[in-house]
Amino acid sequence: MHALNIPRLLTTLIISMSVVAWGCQTDDDCSLNGICHQPSGKCECDPGWKLQDCGQLDLQPATRWSGYNYTNFTLPDFYSTKGGNSSWGGNIIQDRNDKSLFHLIIDQFARGCGLSGWRPFSTVVRAESRTGPAGPYHYAKELMGTFHHNVKVVWSPADKKYLMYTIGIETETPDTCKSYKWANNISVSSAPDIRGPWAPSQRLLNATNPTPWPLWTHDNPTSEIILGVEDNFIYHSDTFNGPYNLIKSMPWNTSDYSDHWTEDPFLWRDKRGNWHILCHWMIDIAERHEKYPRVGGHLFSRSLTGNWTFKLQPVYNTTVHFTDGGETDYYRRERPRLYFSDDGSLTPLYLINGVQEFNSSASYTLIQPIGQGARRYERELGV
Ligand SMILES: *[C@@H]1O[C@H](CO)[C@@H](O)[C@H](O)[C@H]1NC(C)=O
Ligand SMILES: *[C@@H]1O[C@H](CO)[C@@H](O)[C@H](O)[C@H]1NC(C)=O
Ligand SMILES: *[C@@H]1O[C@H](CO)[C@@H](O)[C@H](O)[C@H]1NC(C)=O
Ligand SMILES: *[C@@H]1O[C@H](CO)[C@@H](O)[C@H](O)[C@H]1NC(C)=O
Ligand SMILES: *[C@@H]1O[C@H](CO)[C@@H](O)[C@H](O)[C@H]1NC(C)=O
Ligand SMILES: *[C@@H]1O[C@H](CO)[C@@H](O)[C@H](O)[C@H]1NC(C)=O
Ligand SMILES: *[C@@H]1O[C@H](CO)[C@@H](O)[C@H](O)[C@H]1NC(C)=O
Ligand SMILES: *[C@@H]1O[C@H](CO)[C@@H](O)[C@H](O)[C@H]1NC(C)=O
Ligand SMILES: *[C@@H]1O[C@H](CO)[C@@H](O)[C@H](O)[C@H]1NC(C)=O
Repeated sequence: MHALNIPRLLTTLIISMSVVAWGCQTDDDCSLNGICHQPSGKCECDPGWKLQDCGQLDLQPATRWSGYNYTNFTLPDFYSTKGGNSSWGGNIIQDRNDKSLFHLIIDQFARGCGLSGWRPFSTVVRAESRTGPAGPYHYAKELMGTFHHNVKVVWSPADKKYLMYTIGIETETPDTCKSYKWANNISVSSAPDIRGPWAPSQRLLNATNPTPWPLWTHDNPTSEIILGVEDNFIYHSDTFNGPYNLIKSMPWNTSDYSDHWTEDPFLWRDKRGNWHILCHWMIDIAERHEKYPRVGGHLFSRSLTGNWTFKLQPVYNTTVHFTDGGETDYYRRERPRLYFSDDGSLTPLYLINGVQEFNSSASYTLIQPIGQGARRYERELGV
């Protein structure tokens, strides 16, 4: 007879106990990204989300030279050859009249300046892709000169207009790549077409990192707008031109270097009416004074003014796999935005980030497919 292997038995017991121990009780335990089934206590994740608690984006390999990466470009009037046409994230807009044309509205730094010269060198530009939402996108037009940044464009069905939220003011640039410190006011401009003409910007709030979401639905065709900003503060307005009133601030410590320290919020309402924010979580700066690897944060709530949950776990990190089999661990990966399916299920199809590689002052806009939905969407578009 064999003697009982007690340590091994204990390990097996502990492992099976911890597997049994986790079970969801409500959809909140599934990060509101899925349904909690009983009696199994298992989450059924919505497409695009994975893991036991549906707490991670199901990212698929990205394609090199897709997105918007012109960091190797130079012009005679550039102050530096290090930045190229560096950019720092943006959002994807499908053309309303021409469904195979995609626009990427991005923050791009002028004069070859990299990310460190973002203020005042940032401009807002529109780029186009005929090869699907992942790009590659090609420069089309400057929408706003220096200094404008943090651009976020949404279609407002109530106004039948695009709304373009930015921070910044018109200003001259210095003759070297350097950065200033300024108050960051949020402004809005509007246009009936993504190509313009854009109305003059109107200043709304003394805040930064705007993330608007029109409350319009077929059943409730309201012009009300929700506006998230830095530190996940949430504002409400009856119309896009304001006034915006603060309706929610988070109960936890949002200070720099706290474990809940975030920036770059991206706010959306899912198909069930729940609210979510993706953001740049700065936990590794707080804990290790490094900008990587845990950079993606996710917050969720059943109502805007209710109890938001922030689980303090990464929803994605700085590692990106590519279709050529390679992978890159980025130095910085910030400014998350999602592009959703338009079939009513709001399935996240692409993640857009501003990225910077190690030992490089250049930055670019990376677009990574999510789940099986992205490839299916591309097949249906015929790209
Ligand atoms: C972006 O461009 C740089 C050259 O400027 C290149 O080294 C890098 O591999 C490119 N990244 C991707 C993901 O294509
Ligand atoms: C420069 O960038 C373009 C597009 O982003 C790419 O197609 C090209 O191969 C790059 N050139 C070099 C020398 O890396
Ligand atoms: C770089 O940006 C400038 C505008 O600042 C534009 O004229 C040029 O076409 C862009 N180049 C590429 C390769 O995107
Ligand atoms: C922000 O607004 C204040 C007034 O509230 C103004 O003095 C300042 O110049 C503005 N700054 C920017 C960058 O828009
Ligand atoms: C704008 O907000 C910043 C940071 O919250 C604050 O320091 C500044 O005093 C505010 N400026 C105005 C004009 O309210
Ligand atoms: C918030 O977090 C910061 C950084 O960790 C800390 O210095 C500060 O004391 C905290 N504030 C409160 C009220 O706990
Ligand atoms: C929020 O949480 C608190 C304490 O956890 C609870 O008392 C309250 O009922 C919750 N509110 C909502 C709207 O769920
Ligand atoms: C990112 O997360 C994956 C698991 O999801 C892990 O394998 C990888 O090592 C992480 N990247 C870094 C740089 O820690
Ligand atoms: C960055 O450069 C330093 C030396 O300048 C080197 O030690 C380090 O390995 C480099 N990191 C990467 C990821 O290339």
